[in-house]
Amino acid sequence: MKDIYLLALESSCDETSAAIIKNGRMEIATVVLSQMDIHANYGGVVPEIASRHHIENITMVLEELLEKSNMTFEEIDGIAITYGPGLIGSLLITMQTAKTLSFIYNKPLIPVHHIAGHIYANNLKKPMQFPLLALVVSGGHTELIYMKEDYSFEKIGGTLDDAVGEAYDKVARTLNLSYPGGPVIDNLAYHNEASNAYSLPLPLDDDSYDFSFSGLKSAVINLVHNEKQRGNDIDIKDLATVFQNRVVEIITKKTMRALKEYNISNLIVAGGVAANKGLREQLQLLCEQKKIDLSFPDIDYCTDNAAMIGAAGYYAFKLGKIANLDLKAEANAKLE
Ligand code: KG4
Ligand code: ZN
Repeated sequence: MKDIYLLALESSCDETSAAIIKNGRMEIATVVLSQMDIHANYGGVVPEIASRHHIENITMVLEELLEKSNMTFEEIDGIAITYGPGLIGSLLITMQTAKTLSFIYNKPLIPVHHIAGHIYANNLKKPMQFPLLALVVSGGHTELIYMKEDYSFEKIGGTLDDAVGEAYDKVARTLNLSYPGGPVIDNLAYHNEASNAYSLPLPLDDDSYDFSFSGLKSAVINLVHNEKQRGNDIDIKDLATVFQNRVVEIITKKTMRALKEYNISNLIVAGGVAANKGLREQLQLLCEQKKIDLSFPDIDYCTDNAAMIGAAGYYAFKLGKIANLDLKAEANAKLE
């Protein structure tokens, strides 16, 4: 069979990224230009600033990609592009780039949902086995997705309010920690024994597969506020640990129950929060006990990158999911 080389582009949030992926699994080259340092000054991603930087960065990123891969656009078989969800101004930059290249070089345009990309980041490490359960935990998503086969996505639960990464970032802000807060809280909480000084609720501990993190976030904000009013100092490390323990507890509890109920023995974890050391260790422990095959992407592929879009795009391409130049960026695109 002929090898398929896809150029992939991603700019849904604050990373400008391009990659070339062979046959959905082999990374030829990837370039990721993060704007994290710029947005850290504001404590979060500023959409207008993000899109302006994507415009400035995209040509450089493509030039570097061609140099690194030693390939030309003529040698590419198709262009995989994140069409959503994400910040609309940011999505539009690589969308327009992808359409332009598709038109000039006469290459098919393959629309890829950002979450499908996060899921397929796992396939870059080892081939995904079906049926599987995908736990998607990122700055914008917290979802449990059942996959019977390649490119079939059935959502069985999701967050009713804040995404887990969003809760991490907001709690970090309340504790005066730097952005993005997830890794900072994770480092504070890692292998730290929490005292009994603080107690936080286990959020949405019910029979559904849905999640809710806004109550837990508010509980931290209220606790900090009350302690300040009483003139007490906050033990940041302790509170960060209690927060992380609650997050890990509810996510692992619902995930393990879903695996049992759906009789699935393959679990993959995806998205920025999949980098969380506490979550990784707890899932490893539970999956070992229950003989579940567990997979995480390599750390660099947990956060946004174009390699994952090229990985997912290959399967979309094989299924004939091709778009024309009318393709629209969708800030709230649904995974289906
Ligand atoms: O997947 P991603 O790069 O962007 C979205 O598509 O949302 O995820 C970014 C999120 C941020 O909220 C960041 O704080 C969180 O992932 N994150 C973490 C860790 N590393 C990144 N959260 C918890 N623990 C981590 N180690
Ligand atoms: Zn993402």
